[in-house]
Amino acid sequence: MFSVVVLISGGGSNLRALLTAAASPLYPAKVVAVGSDKAATGLEHAEEFGVPTFVVEPSRFESREAWAEVLLSNIEFHKPDLVVLAGFMRVLPANIVNQLSPRMINLHPSLLPDFPGANAVADTLAAGATVTGATIHIVDEGVDTGKVLTQVSIPVALGISETDLQEQIKLVEQEQLVQAVQDIATGALVLAEKEHNA
Ligand code: GAR
Repeated sequence: MFSVVVLISGGGSNLRALLTAAASPLYPAKVVAVGSDKAATGLEHAEEFGVPTFVVEPSRFESREAWAEVLLSNIEFHKPDLVVLAGFMRVLPANIVNQLSPRMINLHPSLLPDFPGANAVADTLAAGATVTGATIHIVDEGVDTGKVLTQVSIPVALGISETDLQEQIKLVEQEQLVQAVQDIATGALVLAEKEHNA
């Protein structure tokens, strides 16, 4: 069975959508572990579904690289076919990206390359954009710069709050993530040449 490790930092609504889909015997992927950089509330979803969790906090390490090495060994312990960053709010250093690329994807709440970074929804509203959306892309060494796999657009309602727009985007992302992981697992969506040489 195609196996997935999910990394989160927050509430984990996207994680929950994937766990729910993967509970069906018809779904072609399984979440084998969930990791975080803190005691994120979303870890409760994993516990509810009986999926093991791990927390690796950067503040316990002398460098980002040392933190990432331990994070990587926790991920690789589960031998995943794919790593999903679902609201994981840390930029990963090159040592971990190079090990996992292209088998690591990220959800981002904008139509990349527009509005990369940690404040995409606020930046979208501040720019007065009338259309936004959600992107799933391969993680590379940059910040939200990797190859785009799927994008879904939604209109930005006039006067909408940041919180409401973020929630609208999350609803779109949940379906998008379930579909993307299914397509990667079945081979309908191919990540990159490099995966065949790994
Ligand atoms: C999602 O909207 C995701 O796109 C965003 O965090 C949210 C996590 O929601 N990620 C980023 O902004 C990464 N730069 P969730 O914890 O409810 O799944």
